[in-house]
Amino acid sequence: MKMLGAEVIPVQSGARTLKDAMNEALRDWVTNVADTFYCIGTAAGPHPYPAMVRDFQSIIGTETRAQMQEMEGRLPDSLVACIGGGSNAIGLFHPFLDDAGIEIYGVEAAGHGVDVPNGHAASLTGGRPGVLHGNRTYLLMDDDGQILEGHSISAGLDYPGIGPDTAWLHESGRVKYLNATDKEALNAFQLCSKLEGIIPALEPSHALAKVFELAPQKPKDHLMVMNLCGRGDKDIFTVARFWAGCDGAALSRAPRWAPREAIALAGFVIDLDAVGAYFLIVQNPEGSKTADRRWRCRFATLPEPTHIHRRQWARHE
Ligand SMILES: Cc1ncc(COP(=O)(O)O)c(C=O)c1O
Repeated sequence: MKMLGAEVIPVQSGARTLKDAMNEALRDWVTNVADTFYCIGTAAGPHPYPAMVRDFQSIIGTETRAQMQEMEGRLPDSLVACIGGGSNAIGLFHPFLDDAGIEIYGVEAAGHGVDVPNGHAASLTGGRPGVLHGNRTYLLMDDDGQILEGHSISAGLDYPGIGPDTAWLHESGRVKYLNATDKEALNAFQLCSKLEGIIPALEPSHALAKVFELAPQKPKDHLMVMNLCGRGDKDIFTVARFWAGCDGAALSRAPRWAPREAIALAGFVIDLDAVGAYFLIVQNPEGSKTADRRWRCRFATLPEPTHIHRRQWARHE
């Protein structure tokens, strides 16, 4: 952001996470409303921001529909995405919500485990409805309604709430919400890096961890799409510290790295033929996830959940 000319003001309040950055940004906006615009990268906060972000991010689902039709001749059978505030997920899910036959899974961050008090960031699994940042939604709160800090190894998933669309999709039952622990996400992070040569962000590593569980339960012709919504360059120091033996509390105080919007978009499409599957990886290496239609697509086989082999490359404009 600095390289693009922005002035970046670090947040010093609270735990200095996304929640605190939103507090400060909203405070600044309402103080200087005459000459200031507020914007946010996730589908949370006051109306109309969740709707705006959802509509911008829907390019992900729209492209997935078009590219699946083109390459597979049909729509996918299931969709999987991680949930922080809910933007990458709603972007993938939204164009498919009316296709009743398509299973949709969101994956929350279970941190040290959803049973560990204040040790996770699973707002749907472990939270309850309340009001924060101008919207009523599911929040991690104590008995007095005070917002909890929560924990996730992934900086992008530790927001103690979720966007209102995600809350509604949970209550309506249209989307099933699962959760993955830090350890499960790290395992998926390592497997993808090691076997595929792609370092995924820690956020979608949570979704990938659940893909490893879900995929073997599906029929062999099942087509699963997972949104690999960011690269892990920003996370390598966090992961290195984890493997060097840091505890979770120390990790949650670790510095945060690259800004979200600088991260390219990628998605996995998984087809369970034979024992395993193949991955179709959709990447937008040139820009942010809302930027343009120049996505690069790549197929790779997944003969068993622990081995991913490349199959072919294709480029789509
Ligand atoms: C790469 C990446 N993926 C996912 C998220 C989670 O946010 P959201 O649920 O809005 O997609 C973040 C948040 O910063 C992120 O950086």
